[in-house]
Amino acid sequence: MTRVERTEHELVAVMDLGSQYAQLIARRIRENHVYCDFISHTISVEELESLSPKGVVMSGGPANVYAPDAPRCDPRIFRLGIPILGICYGMQLGCFMLGGQVQPGKTREYGRTTCTLDTGSDLFHGLPEVTTVWMSHGDVVEEVSEEFQSIAQTEGCRYAAVRHRQQPFYGVQFHPEVFHTPRGRDIFHNFLFNICGCRGDWQVASFIQEAVERIREKVGNRGVICGLSGGVDSSVTAALVHRAIGDQLTCIFVDHGLLRLGEREQVESTFREHFAMKLVVVDASRRFLSKLAGVVDPEEKRRIIGHEFIDVFKEEAAKLEGVEFLAQGTLFPDVIESVSPRGGPSVTIKSHHNVGGLQEELGFELVETMRELFKDEVRAIGEELSLPAEIVWRQPFPGPGLAIRIIGDITPERIRIVRHADAIVLEEVRIAGLERKLWLWGAILLPVSSTGVMGDERTYENVVAIRAVESTDAMTADWARLEHDLLGRMANRIVNEVRGVNRVVYDISTKPPSTIEWE
Ligand code: XMP
Repeated sequence: MTRVERTEHELVAVMDLGSQYAQLIARRIRENHVYCDFISHTISVEELESLSPKGVVMSGGPANVYAPDAPRCDPRIFRLGIPILGICYGMQLGCFMLGGQVQPGKTREYGRTTCTLDTGSDLFHGLPEVTTVWMSHGDVVEEVSEEFQSIAQTEGCRYAAVRHRQQPFYGVQFHPEVFHTPRGRDIFHNFLFNICGCRGDWQVASFIQEAVERIREKVGNRGVICGLSGGVDSSVTAALVHRAIGDQLTCIFVDHGLLRLGEREQVESTFREHFAMKLVVVDASRRFLSKLAGVVDPEEKRRIIGHEFIDVFKEEAAKLEGVEFLAQGTLFPDVIESVSPRGGPSVTIKSHHNVGGLQEELGFELVETMRELFKDEVRAIGEELSLPAEIVWRQPFPGPGLAIRIIGDITPERIRIVRHADAIVLEEVRIAGLERKLWLWGAILLPVSSTGVMGDERTYENVVAIRAVESTDAMTADWARLEHDLLGRMANRIVNEVRGVNRVVYDISTKPPSTIEWE
């Protein structure tokens, strides 16, 4: 399973050995304007050489190098002369394959640890001699062959970092990719520029030009359809494909009846009026709502919406002539999340339906223009393509929409309540100028009623929860410390303006152990 294609840009390959942080490693490389992609540990020497990478980063992973099913790579890779940075398990693997010994550490190290660095080493050039690093390991490299030298130590670890004397192999036992290793960015910079000799030739502006050319070449004069959701990814995809092939693109927007207030109108005005794109808007809300009636299980809701969406989309696509391609806004994190290092599916926490499904059903070829991008890069491209700020900076909104923000039964009445409450939260966050600080914010309708008093009357009505989180990639999230006055205004307005609500609560859960959405 090697998905990497040869690129004209400098490539640094990330070998994912089962790390939770693989995406962060890629992020650290990209922010240095160096293109990177993932390779499997089963890659052959020939295949790797044919990619001409400037360097390889081997990730961490939960395995023990001696375990029979531990992910290993061809040992010849370490002798190709390609610079390699092994992180945690990646370092242990390299040391082991080059004649060292790995043993369970006497004391396991987790969390922030003080580390002494050999600042004469090119990996640590410009760093202070003593710095904090983030450790997360049980095993350590206990012995190394003569060919290695230690270039960093901690109290519990003689070989907190090593380098090989002849080959450009470097290993760090700690995690330079995580935020808790404050000088981690400098370590990546040193590896990429001083050791791999990269120049940093990957820029957003050149991406657009290259993507336009690739799309034209692939599509020729045939037709493309694109499902618009109003979100950033599909909007930027549509704008990019439209720039490449104009009227050969038709966009389809399915209104499943679970959208936010005014969402459909905004999509219509942006794409039909501003961009003059061919846009088909399908009002399928009745259809979705009748299928969802009485369904309370979150995964069942997702499944029904996913299937129904595909059916509606297929019916609309069948009405168009000459279409052979489907453009999808799949991003790099979607690709990583749906591929595990062993080639099997990773654990499904929630079944997002961003990747796959639609294309198999339609039988069209895929145009995925943004597979290699991160969200912030997509936003930069959206701005460059002059998409309106409300779309470019829109918060991520889940495909199943308000269905997974209504806990329990979905009825028109309950949609009305959550939609209205959500609109109030959105408006207040916008007025407070917090839109770019938060990852996600909105309202959730709970399946409980509470007692209240309005006027002189006892009420027994719905409870709404407000959710607002900060996050950089949705893998982890913290609840936003919104000002009490702001929360107060939201709660007040919701109870006063949304008929059927008499209580508002604020969700102060982090991810993990909670998730961002309630369902
Ligand atoms: P969780 O709730 O898993 O959410 O912490 C992480 C991010 O993913 C979004 N999300 C979804 N997006 N389809 C989507 O397209 C889904 O079924 C779905 N569920 C969650 C969520 O909004 C957050 O940004």
